[in-house]
Amino acid sequence: MPKANPSLISGKLAQKLKEQIGHELGAHQQYLAIGTYFAQQNLDKWAALFYKQAAEEKEHALKIVRFLTDVGEAAHFPAIPAASTGFKSAADAVSQALKWERTVTEQFQTMAKIALAESDFVGFQFLQWFLEEQVEEVSSMEKYLALVESGINLFQAEALLELAS
Ligand SMILES: [Fe+2]
Ligand SMILES: [Fe+2]
Repeated sequence: MPKANPSLISGKLAQKLKEQIGHELGAHQQYLAIGTYFAQQNLDKWAALFYKQAAEEKEHALKIVRFLTDVGEAAHFPAIPAASTGFKSAADAVSQALKWERTVTEQFQTMAKIALAESDFVGFQFLQWFLEEQVEEVSSMEKYLALVESGINLFQAEALLELAS
């Protein structure tokens, strides 16, 4: 069906952003799983930290949905992968989160490359916020992983969580 108004961003970038909605909602669910893993062990502050992170990922998805709507693109909600709470250890859970954050950073870098190659400056500018956000998310996840891997008792570590965030 032809659109009434042309899109303000490149078709290639729009396609990637539509896929990214699924990645962000997938991250939302993965963080819910990590939060639940900690809650099951009565590590409530660790749980709260990851539930808060989950909420941020949902906001990221919504930010993309709103942008796509504003620029005249249709947003879709793709299927998202299941997330298990069955982590081997706290270090396993947090290191998986760090790995996802690195992957998401690569996804946004790929989108930034596409935007530049397409001379899509509207799209490129939108991506700046996410690139900055990813630097922060990778950095804070590295700090949480270092804390878990230090061998500190995780209940005692809860007092340090606000310092690391
Ligand atoms: Fe995100
Ligand atoms: Fe994230």
